Amino acid sequence: MAFLFWFSLLLVGFLWRPQLVVAQQNDQSTMLALEKELVVSGWGLNNSSYCSWVGVRCRSNLSMVEELDLSYRQLRGNVTLISELKALKKLDLSYNNFHGAIPTDFGNLSELEFLDLSWNNFGNLIPPELGSLRNLRSLNLSNNRLTGKIPDEFQRLERLQDLQISGNKLTGSIPSWVGNLTNLRVFTAYENELGDKIPENLGSASELRLLNLHSNELEGPIPKSIFASGKLEILVLTMNKLTGNFPELVGNCKGLSNIRIGNNRLIGNIPKTIGNVSSLTYFEADNNNLSGEIVPEFSRCVNLTLLNLASNGFKGTIPQELGVLINLQELIVSGNSLFGDIPKSILRCKNLSKLDLSNNRFNGTIPEDLCYTPRLQFLLLGQNSIKGEIPHEIGNCVKLLELQMGSNYLTGSIPPEIGRIKNLQIALNLSFNHLHGPLPSELGKLDKLVSLDVSNNQLSGNIPSAFKGMMSLIEVNFSNNLLTGLVPTFGPFQKSPNSSFSGNKGLCINPLGSSCGGSFSPDHEDYHHRVSYKIILAVIGSGLTVFIMVTIVVLLFMMREKQEKAAKAAGIAEGETVNPPLIIAGNVFVENLRQAIDFDAAVKATLKDSNKLSNGTFSTVYKAVMPSGLILSVKRLKCMDRTVINHQNKMIRELERLGKLCHDNLVRPIGFVIYEDVALLLHQFLPNGTLAQLLHDSTTKPEFEPDWPTRLSIAIGVAEGLAFLHHVAIIHLDISSGNVLLDANFKPLVGEIEISKLLDPSRGTASISAVAGSFGYIPPEYAYTMQVTAPGNVYSYGVVLLEILTTRLPVEEAFGEAMDLVKWVHSAPARGETPEQILDARLSTVSFAWRKEMLAVLVVALQCTDGTPAKRPKMKKVVEMLQEIKQS
Ligand SMILES: *[C@@H]1O[C@H](CO)[C@@H](O)[C@H](O)[C@H]1NC(C)=O
Ligand SMILES: *[C@@H]1O[C@H](CO)[C@@H](O)[C@H](O)[C@H]1NC(C)=O
Ligand SMILES: *[C@@H]1O[C@H](CO)[C@@H](O)[C@H](O)[C@H]1NC(C)=O
Ligand SMILES: *[C@@H]1O[C@H](CO)[C@@H](O)[C@H](O)[C@H]1NC(C)=O
Ligand SMILES: *[C@@H]1O[C@H](CO)[C@@H](O)[C@H](O)[C@H]1NC(C)=O
Ligand SMILES: *[C@@H]1O[C@H](CO)[C@@H](O)[C@H](O)[C@H]1NC(C)=O
Ligand SMILES: *[C@@H]1O[C@H](CO)[C@@H](O)[C@H](O)[C@H]1NC(C)=O
Ligand SMILES: *[C@@H]1O[C@H](CO)[C@@H](O)[C@H](O)[C@H]1NC(C)=O
Ligand SMILES: *[C@@H]1O[C@H](CO)[C@@H](O)[C@H](O)[C@H]1NC(C)=O
Repeated sequence: MAFLFWFSLLLVGFLWRPQLVVAQQNDQSTMLALEKELVVSGWGLNNSSYCSWVGVRCRSNLSMVEELDLSYRQLRGNVTLISELKALKKLDLSYNNFHGAIPTDFGNLSELEFLDLSWNNFGNLIPPELGSLRNLRSLNLSNNRLTGKIPDEFQRLERLQDLQISGNKLTGSIPSWVGNLTNLRVFTAYENELGDKIPENLGSASELRLLNLHSNELEGPIPKSIFASGKLEILVLTMNKLTGNFPELVGNCKGLSNIRIGNNRLIGNIPKTIGNVSSLTYFEADNNNLSGEIVPEFSRCVNLTLLNLASNGFKGTIPQELGVLINLQELIVSGNSLFGDIPKSILRCKNLSKLDLSNNRFNGTIPEDLCYTPRLQFLLLGQNSIKGEIPHEIGNCVKLLELQMGSNYLTGSIPPEIGRIKNLQIALNLSFNHLHGPLPSELGKLDKLVSLDVSNNQLSGNIPSAFKGMMSLIEVNFSNNLLTGLVPTFGPFQKSPNSSFSGNKGLCINPLGSSCGGSFSPDHEDYHHRVSYKIILAVIGSGLTVFIMVTIVVLLFMMREKQEKAAKAAGIAEGETVNPPLIIAGNVFVENLRQAIDFDAAVKATLKDSNKLSNGTFSTVYKAVMPSGLILSVKRLKCMDRTVINHQNKMIRELERLGKLCHDNLVRPIGFVIYEDVALLLHQFLPNGTLAQLLHDSTTKPEFEPDWPTRLSIAIGVAEGLAFLHHVAIIHLDISSGNVLLDANFKPLVGEIEISKLLDPSRGTASISAVAGSFGYIPPEYAYTMQVTAPGNVYSYGVVLLEILTTRLPVEEAFGEAMDLVKWVHSAPARGETPEQILDARLSTVSFAWRKEMLAVLVVALQCTDGTPAKRPKMKKVVEMLQEIKQS
């Protein structure tokens, strides 16, 4: 008995003592010191063991820290102490504010398997000591400020599977030993300054699945070795200086879905083996020196959705075989030397939305059954040698947004059926052809069209007065035809320079006939006006969902449809997971919502049309129910793949910053998910829709018509939200009633604030879109200044106020020619109308008090929409004025 007793005591002692001793001597003191150094909130609040602190996990039988997850905590300080936690296997410090050099002592953490230091400001060289981490499987140093070379000591990391070093300032070359890392699966080094050749054995020893090296200075050929294992799934090498041929060995990789090799210096043919890449969905090889014919083998890639071969040296015709690609949505082959007919078979790809054949040598005719495909939005045939007439069937292309047929050899007359393409908004260009006959008055029905160019033809007759129906026109060109008569009096025509009408002998600009005959002098006064209009022209379509994707691809849309189909086919509705997309990054900024949000569920929600809540200028919004029951609104950005891929880092930083902005009247992002090329922003779900719906939706039942006090509170809330934004120096890009959301109590929250931060105004397309906003809300000075300003925001807010007061839309046909709500209200006195005739009579006649308040708010709205920016009040002042009105 005694023996047993002592024995068991011994056993207990044996089991217990090390735990206490080791914990006290080692990690306890380190953890307490660390808590002090980093000031981690929630740590050390009570006397509980550090093993139960947030983000800490200890080894089961000992109190030694095995996992330390301090991600997303806005921490700064000296992390060197962590290297004392000898048992550490997993260390995640991502998304903090750590700076300085990465501690060399991290190299002593011999048990470490997972090290994530991404999204900090770590600078200086990468310490070679990390090469001692023999157990390391995953190393993520991306998105810091690291400089120098990739240390050669890393070749000792034999178990490494994931190596991510993108988004730094690394120089030198990709070392050849990377090719000897036998376990490597993921290698990203994009957005650095790496030069020299890609090692010719890269991937040969491993099962490389993802290789992303875009935006470096890499030279030499694409190594065959990356295709050796046949496991590659994603290959992104865009924006380097790569030369040589695209390797035939690509045919090895059945699972390769994305190939992006655009903007390099590649030569030679696309290998026929591309047909073996059966998973291929996205092939982008534009802006290289590729040549030869477009290989018919692409037709074997049944999932091919986008084929972009623009700006290369391709010759020959487009293979008929491509017509079998039922998933093809974009075929972009502009800027090559292709000839022959417009490929009829391609026009039968029933999902085709963009066909860009421009700037080639196509010399056939336009087929009659042109719009067999119901989804065609972009038909770009300019700068070719296309002959024959424009078929009347063109009128069947009802979804077209842009029709470019300029600089061809088209004959015959303009088919009046074009007037049936009500969606046409970006441009109708028939210039530099041999078209004759009259201008069909039916074109006047194109009320969304922004640019009309029929110049340099042999068109005759009058400009029909029905053209006044083209209310969205900003740019017109009728020059160098045989037109006669008087140019109709119409705003957009008046604003155009005389040169838009010149070269028509019998055409008179004013009724006195003093400027007929086609020799008008250039109109200098209008010049400035015109240029600036032209710039916004590129972005504004009248319905304004047009954020033009002239060069970039509508991948978001495409992928969604594709996945939707896949989802339907495989019954995703039953909750099965089908090829869940590889989520590249994701985060929830709000601590207490982290558990409740499931990224996969958010992604899935956006794949179903029935979840769609709204479609805005810059995004589409979906409703997503999380498994936890939480309802989110998920915003899918329309900022195209390149923006997402190339500016991801910046984008995420901005989102995190915005996530911290706290104001009752702002919709701030609570998180994001990035997968493939898609960026999703997560927001709280607001059940009452938008202010625009509340005010203008004709289906709103009378009992839900907002009364005056509700409207005034909404007006004040919006003003407060904007005043706060201006206070923190953020200018909103797109203020409109459609971007004001309403919560269950009709409290307004201004949305789309992230857009102002995500679109970098220093970049091409974004700078244009930056002056866009929504039609009817754009301050007049934007056209000249090209700059979004706080006074510009005040103007747009003023338009919202007018909507609230009048229950009218910012642009309505009833306002007459070239008039919007602002002009209509400001010109009321000139028309001899009293303010009461402007206000919504259903409200202003209810009580004397309401009427008085409405008149006072009208004064504020008039000040906000003053034509002179300097005369508009500041947002803060607007809040004060409105609150005074409410209290009195
Ligand atoms: C104290 O520690 C326990 C774990 O033992 C934890 O659940 C609790 O939240 C901590 N209390 C405070 C105030 O941090
Ligand atoms: C924590 O423990 C120390 C001594 O170990 C004691 O002095 C202190 O009162 C305790 N604090 C709490 C909140 O229990
Ligand atoms: C603790 O557990 C690990 C494995 O979980 C084992 O290798 C180690 O020997 C154990 N230590 C003690 C002191 O029991
Ligand atoms: C962090 O602390 C260590 C000593 O613990 C010191 O050697 C190192 O210089 C410090 N690093 C920084 C960036 O202050
Ligand atoms: C790490 O190892 C080096 C060399 O073995 C040693 O000099 C240093 O003190 C160690 N650091 C820690 C924190 O143990
Ligand atoms: C860093 O890279 C690893 C390995 O690829 C990955 O698991 C981890 O999620 C990445 N960290 C962040 C913050 O994206
Ligand atoms: C990579 O491995 C090959 C074959 O094992 C070897 O010949 C070569 O020297 C290694 N390269 C490097 C840089 O270690
Ligand atoms: C095409 O895509 C669908 C859905 O993603 C997938 O199920 C199918 O296997 C793909 N086909 C090929 C040949 O990869
Ligand atoms: C189109 O051009 C090609 C090559 O120049 C020529 O062979 C062919 O006959 C032309 N086709 C038509 C219809 O003119």
